[in-house]
Amino acid sequence: MTGHRFPAGEKGRLTAEERRRLQPAEEIVQRMDPSPGEVAADLGCGPGYVTVPLARRVGRVYGVDAQQAMLDALMENVPADLKGKVVPVLGELPRIPLEDHSIDRAVVVNVVHEIENLAQFNIELRRCLKGCGRLSIVDFPKWETSFGPPLSERMSDLEMVAMFPFFQVVRTWRFQEFYQIEMALI
Ligand SMILES: C[S@@+](CC[C@H](N)C(=O)[O-])C[C@H]1O[C@@H](n2cnc3c(N)ncnc32)[C@H](O)[C@@H]1O
Repeated sequence: MTGHRFPAGEKGRLTAEERRRLQPAEEIVQRMDPSPGEVAADLGCGPGYVTVPLARRVGRVYGVDAQQAMLDALMENVPADLKGKVVPVLGELPRIPLEDHSIDRAVVVNVVHEIENLAQFNIELRRCLKGCGRLSIVDFPKWETSFGPPLSERMSDLEMVAMFPFFQVVRTWRFQEFYQIEMALI
């Protein structure tokens, strides 16, 4: 199921108008229902398509990505009034380069299919999240969509949930182009 890493040279596609139409970032963040004081981590943040609107709604967001070019683009895309809220962190998932019990929410948008060793990722999420912490996942359904990885690299929303046994589902939204799952640490 693990696929190829999204190339940094194509990062413009991640903030393109077509994506904004098909997968509106503000609506994704709205469904997360974040609180103003939260500390969040956007894991595999890319150029910050979700990091930026999330930073408007919480106290701090760690933007974690394995590619420095993505983190550079992230900080270029963060407006001046949010600069103090977004912390870029270079790191290779499944290891999460954050302290134990330091975040209220982990956000993983269009990334899980690129991560090797999801069992280890699950353990790392539990280590970094505070009690009752939230996990927000957005990914692609197993049918043809306007963009996204090959069908062979995708998981259905039910297959995705099964990969995170330390979490229980709070709510799932299923759309034509993607699904979003809100989970809570058990
Ligand atoms: C398809 S992009 C999605 C980016 C962003 N979440 C968004 O929705 O625009 C996948 C991102 O995950 C990052 N990524 C993939 N595998 C990773 C890993 N093992 N550790 C950290 N980042 C990773 C890539 O560098 C890329 O920025």
